Amino acid sequence: MTRAKNPPPGPSIAIVGLGHVGLATALAFCSHGRHVTGYDADPQRRSTVAGGTSPFYEPGLSSLLRRHTRAGGLKVVDSISDAVACSRLLFLAVPTPSGPMGEVDLTAVRSAAEEIGVALRNVGRWTSVVMKSTTVPGTVDGSLTRILAHRSLRQPDLDFGVGSNPEFLSEGTMVHDALHPYRIVIGVRDPRTRSLLRAAYAVFRSPIVEMTPAGAELVKYAANAMLATRVSFANEFSRVAEVAGVDIYPVLAAVGLDPRIGPGFLRAGPGFGGSCFTKDLRALLRWAAERSVELQIPSAVLAVNERQATHVVDVAEREAGSLRGKKVALLGLAFKAGCDDTAESRAYPIYSELRRRGAHPILYDPRAGPNFVNGLAASGSTAHVGLTRVARSAQEALAKSDLAIIQADWPEFRKIPARDWARLGLRLIVDARRSVGSDRLERHGLRYRAIGRPAQQRRPEVA
Ligand code: UDX
Repeated sequence: MTRAKNPPPGPSIAIVGLGHVGLATALAFCSHGRHVTGYDADPQRRSTVAGGTSPFYEPGLSSLLRRHTRAGGLKVVDSISDAVACSRLLFLAVPTPSGPMGEVDLTAVRSAAEEIGVALRNVGRWTSVVMKSTTVPGTVDGSLTRILAHRSLRQPDLDFGVGSNPEFLSEGTMVHDALHPYRIVIGVRDPRTRSLLRAAYAVFRSPIVEMTPAGAELVKYAANAMLATRVSFANEFSRVAEVAGVDIYPVLAAVGLDPRIGPGFLRAGPGFGGSCFTKDLRALLRWAAERSVELQIPSAVLAVNERQATHVVDVAEREAGSLRGKKVALLGLAFKAGCDDTAESRAYPIYSELRRRGAHPILYDPRAGPNFVNGLAASGSTAHVGLTRVARSAQEALAKSDLAIIQADWPEFRKIPARDWARLGLRLIVDARRSVGSDRLERHGLRYRAIGRPAQQRRPEVA
C-alpha cells in the first residue's frame, strides 16, 4: 500500500458520512499518512466502523479499515461538533439520492450542514467545508453556503470556506480508485480552501484540476453522463450487430483502438445499473429542465438502457419459445460483479419481465441475494417476494431450471463445469455479459446465446 513514510504536513481532515465514498476517501487519506476523523449519523455504522468492520462488501476495504482503526489513523467520533473541532478541512460525503421527480434529495446534506454550521459558531478558526457528495451545479455556492452562514453566524469566504471535490470511485475497485484517482477535481473560490485541499492531496500522485465549485460539480455529471452514454451506445449497436449477423465485441474493440475514442465503457450487456448513472442522469435532466434547457442525450441514454433489459428477455424468449411456466436461473443479481450492491441492477427489470411473461425465476448471486430480495420488497413487489427463490449456489439454480440468464459476470460462473450447465432442461444459456464463453459449452451440446452476437455467429470472440 502507498503509505507515505514522512508525508508533507497537511491539514487535519474530517469526513462526515461513512458510506462507500466517505469510507474509501478516509482510508485513502490514512494510507497516504494522514489522520482522519470520521462521523456518520447512524450510530450503528459508527460503532461498526470504529470496531474496524466494513459495513458493506468492498474488496480490500476491510483489511485497510482494520489496519487504520487499530493504528489510530482513522478515529470515529460521536458528534459532528467533535468532527468540526478536530479538523480544518471537512468533507461532506452524505447520500444525495433521487427525489420523486429525479431531483437531488438534499435532506442529508442540509441536516449535516445545519449541524456543522452550529458547531462552527464555537470554533475560533477557519474551517473549509468541502462537498464530496454528488450535487448539481450551484449547490455548494447556494444551499451549502447559505445554511453554513445562517447557522454559524459567520461570513463565508472570510470566516469559513466552501468547496467541491467530487468523487469518481467505482464499486469493486474503490480502494484502488481512491488511492490513485485519475484526477482530483477541486472547485474553490477562496485561497484558503484551495491551499487546504492542495495540501491534503499533496501526497497523492494524481493531477489536480482546479475550477469553480459549480464547475467541479458539473464535471461529475458530465463524466457519468459520458460513461453512461458509451454503455448505451454499445448496447444499441449490439442490437444492430445482431441483425447484421456480426459480433459486436470485436467490432467495438476495433472502434476503441482509435485513440480519439478509446476502449473503455464499450462493453455491450444488459444495461447499466449502480447508484450513480441513472440517478445522475435523472438529476441532470431535471436540473436542466428547471432552467428551460431540454437535454436529449441523457433521455435517450436512459431509454436505451431500459430497452436493453427487455431485450435480454426477448433473446431468451426467441430461443426458448414462450417463457410461460419455464424456470429461469437468473445468475448475478448485483448491478455488476465484485460487489453486493443491487442499486438499479438490471436484474430487477429482467426479473419483472420474466415474471410478466409467466416464467419462474430462480435467483443466484455469490453476494447480493439478500440485498436483491430486500430491494424487491422495498420496491413494493411484495407479491413476488413469496414466489422468489434464491438458490445457495449457481449449480443448485441450474439443476432446477430450464434455461439460464447471466446478468453479472462473477468469475465463479466461468468455473462452472459444462456438466452442471447441461442440467438445464432446455440446455440454453443467455449470456448478457460474455461471462462464460461459448466454445466449451457448445461442444457439450449447449445452446449459448450472447447479447450482441447473432445465433449463427461461430467466429472466435474477443475476450
Ligand atoms: C460509476 C462511475 O464509473 C464512477 O466514476 C462514479 O463515481 C460512480 O458511477 P459504478 O456505478 O461503481 O461507478 O460502476 P461502473 O463500473 O462505472 O459501472 C456502471 C454500470 O455500467 C454497471 O452496471 C456496469 O456493468 C455497466 N457497464 C460498464 C457496462 O454495461 N458496460 C461497460 O462497458 C462498462
